Amino acid sequence: MGLIEGHMAIEPPDGVPVWDVDPYDPVILANPDDYYAELREKGPFAYIPKYSILACGRHDETHEVFSDWERFVSSRGVGLQDFSLETPWRPPSLVLEVDPPYHSRTRKILVRALSPKATAALADKFQSAADTLIDALVEKGRFEAVEDLAEAYPISVFPGAVGFRQPDKRRLIDYGAMVFNALGPDNELRRTAMARGPDIVPWITEQCRRENLDASGFGATIYAAADEGEITEEEAGMLVRSLLSAGVDTTVTGLGSTLWCFATFPDQFEKLKADPSLLRPAFEEVLRFTTPVHSFCRTANLDTTVSGIEICQGTKILCVLGAANGDERKWPGADRFDISRRPMGHLGMGAGIHNCVGQNLARAEVAAVMKAILNKVDGIELTGKAVWRPNNAIHALDKLPIAFKGK
Ligand code: HEM
Repeated sequence: MGLIEGHMAIEPPDGVPVWDVDPYDPVILANPDDYYAELREKGPFAYIPKYSILACGRHDETHEVFSDWERFVSSRGVGLQDFSLETPWRPPSLVLEVDPPYHSRTRKILVRALSPKATAALADKFQSAADTLIDALVEKGRFEAVEDLAEAYPISVFPGAVGFRQPDKRRLIDYGAMVFNALGPDNELRRTAMARGPDIVPWITEQCRRENLDASGFGATIYAAADEGEITEEEAGMLVRSLLSAGVDTTVTGLGSTLWCFATFPDQFEKLKADPSLLRPAFEEVLRFTTPVHSFCRTANLDTTVSGIEICQGTKILCVLGAANGDERKWPGADRFDISRRPMGHLGMGAGIHNCVGQNLARAEVAAVMKAILNKVDGIELTGKAVWRPNNAIHALDKLPIAFKGK
């Protein structure tokens, strides 16, 4: 058995087209729409010889593979590496990269820490931070929205909500980029991100220790589970780490993409201003339309069949969530950003038992910013070219120059 990028090499299954493409080419990662469309065109699956993987990009099959944890496990890694064959770069996540029954135990603790009640208790704090930031940006007029807003806002509220006393913006953001780039092949993006490891990883580990967290944040609730004997002290630290790995880059990206959508489609901003009750479905449409987490893997844990295609045990499957969210079969007019659509079943927050446990929090952060914008801003204008930043798993903006038209 040969290994490619740390997983078992496979032969293309019968009926699956071979497609000579590199999904991790920085050009594709920055502007993936044509690649998404071609992947859907190929059929339920395509075999990609460069990495000896199957890729899926139609909604139904992607949903099936992504959410069926018994056949397609996460414990063998959600990137290209198969943890049953190679040691990962860091100890695996105790929630994202495990299966039931262990997953149910740790997930329950995160659900408790991030409960709707715990999130709702932060609403006033989130809103006043958003109001202050948007006032300052209206005053400024023109600004670089990735750094000044999409990064600045979550960094101003999220670490405090976890219980950090000394957030370091750069390290938190770079850690996210590292975790997500690590899911791809051994390419330039992964190597550059990993080079920051010796500086960032010990700092992150230190921040997650009980004595470095205050008594009121999500971190404290996680450590309380250790006091009750539900998990060990070390597991608690690892679960706090999961919040940092998964909660910063994703929200920065979701917020940046929200601004990009409304700057690019001003008629939709007008529509939202006319009816602010559309805010919640509007963010779902942003998630569908831009898909911040563009691709994650699963590993077949047994020989099985999906849509008549035989898949052998050990096969790595790249679930291209961005392609699935643009599937016309599921959403007619999928290439249109339309905030009145109710995009039920989009995969922007995942699906099944691993669906995003921090989604209420992410929605609360984006809602606070958008409410402040709706109250204080008449229009959002692109003042230059939006540039997307290639990352092996995240579809994020690098630059978004915009201007707010104040009221
Ligand atoms: C717009 C923002 C966000 C997006 C687009 C997003 C997206 C996702 C996706 C697609 C998954 C599924 C992964 C899989 O099935 O393999 C996921 C899981 C997860 N997310 Fe989020 N996320 C966001 C915000 C957050 C926040 C704010 C937190 C923490 C406070 C968080 C923590 C997690 C964790 C811990 C998991 C793993 C859950 C499990 O395996 O049971 N996420 N997220």
